[in-house]
Amino acid sequence: MSMEHLFTPFSFKGVELKNRIVMPPLASFLLEDDGSVTEKTIEHYRMRAAGGPAMVIMEAHAVSPEGIVSHHQARIYDDRYIEGLSRIADVIKQEGAVPAIQIHHGGRQTSAKVIKQKPFAPSNLPCPVIRGDVEPLTLEGIQRIVRHFGEAARRSVQAGFELIEIHGAHGYLINQFLSRFSNIREDAYGGDAAGRARFAFEIVQEIRKSIGPDFPVSFKISAQEFVPNGLTVEESIEVLKEIIPAGVDMVQVSAGNDATPEWICQPMFMEKACLADSAGIIRKALQMPVMAVGRINEPRVADAIIAEEKADLVCIGRGLLADPEMPKKAQEGRLDDIRICIACNTCMESIFRRGRIECLVNPSLGREKEMELKPAETPKKVMVIGGGPGGLHVASVAARRGHDVHLYEKQAQLGGQLNLGSVTKYKKELLSLIGFQKRQVEKSGIKTHLNFEVTLDTVDREKPDVVVLSTGSIPVKPPIPGIDKPIVRTLSQVFDSEHLAGMKTVVVGGGATGCEVAHHLSESGCSVTIVEQLDKLAGQLESITRKVLLRQLRDNNVQFLTGCTLAKIEDHGVVITTPDGKEPFIQAEAVVLAIGNRPDNTLFEQIKSTGIPVYQIGVCLEPRSAKAAIFEAADIGRAI
Ligand SMILES: Cc1cc2nc3c(=O)[nH]c(=O)nc-3n(C[C@H](O)[C@H](O)[C@H](O)COP(=O)(O)O)c2cc1C
Repeated sequence: MSMEHLFTPFSFKGVELKNRIVMPPLASFLLEDDGSVTEKTIEHYRMRAAGGPAMVIMEAHAVSPEGIVSHHQARIYDDRYIEGLSRIADVIKQEGAVPAIQIHHGGRQTSAKVIKQKPFAPSNLPCPVIRGDVEPLTLEGIQRIVRHFGEAARRSVQAGFELIEIHGAHGYLINQFLSRFSNIREDAYGGDAAGRARFAFEIVQEIRKSIGPDFPVSFKISAQEFVPNGLTVEESIEVLKEIIPAGVDMVQVSAGNDATPEWICQPMFMEKACLADSAGIIRKALQMPVMAVGRINEPRVADAIIAEEKADLVCIGRGLLADPEMPKKAQEGRLDDIRICIACNTCMESIFRRGRIECLVNPSLGREKEMELKPAETPKKVMVIGGGPGGLHVASVAARRGHDVHLYEKQAQLGGQLNLGSVTKYKKELLSLIGFQKRQVEKSGIKTHLNFEVTLDTVDREKPDVVVLSTGSIPVKPPIPGIDKPIVRTLSQVFDSEHLAGMKTVVVGGGATGCEVAHHLSESGCSVTIVEQLDKLAGQLESITRKVLLRQLRDNNVQFLTGCTLAKIEDHGVVITTPDGKEPFIQAEAVVLAIGNRPDNTLFEQIKSTGIPVYQIGVCLEPRSAKAAIFEAADIGRAI
């Protein structure tokens, strides 16, 4: 398929772009705690630029110390950062892309713990998520921050960047001023669109004073905040009309704020390119270059946005974390080789929960150098048992290193339990991962044996040098009265057929899988009650995905019974034990068990006893555990 729109050059304000693909700012969490650039930061950006986008916009850089939102954030509030940043601008240029940088102030969307003072805000309204006291900005405070943006712009130019983007989106300080959701000031910096836009206007003016009229400047806006009194597309056009005359050349149209992060990093439950229409409306209204962003994870989708004139440029963020070479592969027509971002938001979860960046489909992210594949010193015969995401990954890594790999799967198709996980409408994206992995296996000369259940005899006969077991797991079956009654259904029975449609159901277990099953059932017209012994549902799920999923369950009238345990299963329902010791009966036509799986270790122990080196990879029913499996596979594939 031709990608002619995506690969047509574009120029504006003296910037020559070789194609329409931009890497938008993405916090890399690859900096030192004091914000200095490391070899890993440089390698990360070098690889992204080398993959073929026309422009790479470096992540949000704090313009003042109290503007940082995390210790890992990039900074530009001192001249000492110029040297490190110039090394990144240089490598981006060397790899043939335009180096750009985003400058930022977090405002109220940080905590006193991080910045050792009360966060600044337009008004005395704390961040609805972080909470804590805030310090409404005085007029002097406003002027000081405006100057900081000007100084940051000067440093950006000195470091060699060729475009500066102002972060006016995602609920950070500039966005806080733009929106009545966070700005209730009664002075010149609040009130109507012109008042709320004044802070941004003055920032652009100051930047222009600092770097002159000819340097390209872009402004990222959350054109829809999806909160009461928040920005809408119409209002965003109004405020942009106020800001642009100060000297903005390009607008990046994003969405969401602290209260609606699902619109910032749209999880797989949300439509692809779901913000492109708003970009199109803004482009038409303002008659100026616009970048679209938001779940544009495939070149085809990106090309259509340009073809339909919704935007001049498309930003591909998580897509380039997943596969930095996506632009090159698209241009060469190698669409099948692209490792598509599945919008599982592992990247988001890992930066917030673990302070480092990870990607489910690309285990090398953030440690590219150390994960470089080296040819095996002694090519071995490797037997991989189980064709789920972990098995497929280890097989292809081992094969690429030169091993002779034999892959065995007892089912008729590869993909393992992810096939089951991808049944629901909202998780179809998992199929792109399975598809990619299958194609890699096909291409790397691996001998694949389907419908083949491996026993110890097979291992004795084949005489492998190494065995890797990725055989999945067995559903946990608790010793509860009535557990074998016909009313009880397994997960595969639920996902494999439509026969439960419209039934009254109880899902036992409200972890990630239980909630996803409940969602699937409620979408097919079932009435659903979730029984969960913990107080929190889907506690392990990435927080943005969790928020969207729970909201959809509530919208579908799913009943949540938390803090409750299953006491027994009867012919027409279940008896549960509530936190206050009561034992109510809940009527149901089907009871679905989603209480977890346990690894099937039998073959592992048998092979181990033969003395053949054997490794085991985790269970892969859904993204969270698929990540563990793929990460283990990545390590084992390199170790053997
Ligand atoms: C890990 C991560 C870090 C991000 N950091 C920034 C940032 O520093 N500045 C910004 O404007 N947006 C940031 N974003 C949002 C992205 O620029 C982009 O708007 C969003 O990911 C949606 O685009 P995508 O679906 O192509 O990833 C970040 C997103 C992710 C996933």
